[in-house]
Amino acid sequence: MANDIKKTGRILRAPENFVDPVLAHEITSKGLSEERRGFLRKSFLAAGAAMAGGVPLARAAMPDGDPNILNLPEHSTTLGQPVVTNGYGVPSKYETNLLRRESPGLTRVGAASVSFAPLQGLFGIITPSGLHFERHHQGWHDIDPSKHRFMINGLVKNPKVYTMDDLMRLPSVSRMHFIECGANTAMEWGNVAVPTVQYSHGMLSCCEFTGVPLSVLLEDCGYDKKNGKFVLAEGADGSSMTRTIAMDRALDDVIVAWGMNGEMLRPENGYPLRLVVPGVQGVSWVKWLRRIEVGDKPYATKDEAIHYIDAMPDGMYRQYTSVQECKSVITTPSAGQMLLDKGFYNITGLAWSGRGKIKRVDVSVDGGRNWRTARLEGPVNTKCLTRFNINWVWDGSPVVLQSRAIDETGYVQPKINELREVRGTRSIYHNNAIQSWKVSESGEVSNVQVY
Ligand code: MTE
Repeated sequence: MANDIKKTGRILRAPENFVDPVLAHEITSKGLSEERRGFLRKSFLAAGAAMAGGVPLARAAMPDGDPNILNLPEHSTTLGQPVVTNGYGVPSKYETNLLRRESPGLTRVGAASVSFAPLQGLFGIITPSGLHFERHHQGWHDIDPSKHRFMINGLVKNPKVYTMDDLMRLPSVSRMHFIECGANTAMEWGNVAVPTVQYSHGMLSCCEFTGVPLSVLLEDCGYDKKNGKFVLAEGADGSSMTRTIAMDRALDDVIVAWGMNGEMLRPENGYPLRLVVPGVQGVSWVKWLRRIEVGDKPYATKDEAIHYIDAMPDGMYRQYTSVQECKSVITTPSAGQMLLDKGFYNITGLAWSGRGKIKRVDVSVDGGRNWRTARLEGPVNTKCLTRFNINWVWDGSPVVLQSRAIDETGYVQPKINELREVRGTRSIYHNNAIQSWKVSESGEVSNVQVY
């Protein structure tokens, strides 16, 4: 370890972190041209003077002294800004390029679209609330909580309507869980499609959610224990988002949530109330939740009969596939970034499983021929993102980086060809294949598919 990190390599961050929005658009809409890529590399290297073989871990003293030490900066000699300059704190002005972003051309209107979380720039496992991905079918609203009502009806003895105040007086729980849209990585089913991990895996976030267990509310309404086999969750937005959830799951760990990362949900994420369905694809996490109905059979609504279903190779469709299977991705180094030196790199990424905890993550730097086991950073929670890290020394030769997660059920994340053998090539949803990032001799990292 100590030997590994004597010479660390430098990474040019993914384009979205250092280029202007116009160039980011260029990259995401048509891919970066060879010429443009060459230009970017040259301009960065000119600014940084690359050293083959890595840069020393700590700077040697400069002969004439480092002006950043010798000249006292303004912030050391003047009065800083007072408290409450920002009543609600915002990120540093030096971090303004780290944004959730829409993939240009993915949908025709922004109200029925997706914004992707910038996974390449996040640390640990918690997604900052303002960077949580968004998926709206018909736009988002900032609903007045004093007017929001939540109803439970159907096969229950006492149908009830709750106000937000009613709900927030009940015993609550706080749990960390990931949410992943069933369509995350969908564009990669056929072939390589997108330029960075933000767009390939960014319909993924992880927060601490607070709310009342749905089981408490179902008991409160006296649900029919004999015939009540399913619940239907309904949102208050214009998309009439409705999803069926089996009763055993509804009674297990589903939360009717108002809190996210210690504060109220953000409007984009369902303020004031959303369903949290741990381990299950995002579409079932109904936002702006207004109703739960108890029934005796699946409801086969539009969002489960014709959307979020899997096209199978025999021409049939599989419905109600809801669990997000075990998956992982290396977030650094990842496509769009560039390794500027040979030397030490910390390979880092995220792993998750809708069936429980992550047991192990293996990392390969030779396209899956050899694997080493990565360090899992705690906490390793159930149905939650798990951060992994592993040391790596790049010798400057071309390599393919991959991560492979294994969950506590023993399920092993498949290769893309293994997934295609079972699921065919016409699927959109539920692509949990191993992701490959190619590092070329020039240090450029790109999205590839390696079997
Ligand atoms: N709930 C309502 N009411 N309306 C919606 O459009 N989108 C669903 C789900 N819940 C949606 C909804 C989908 S497809 C996903 S992936 C998640 O919300 C996204 O949640 P987020 O926007 O908080 O990331």
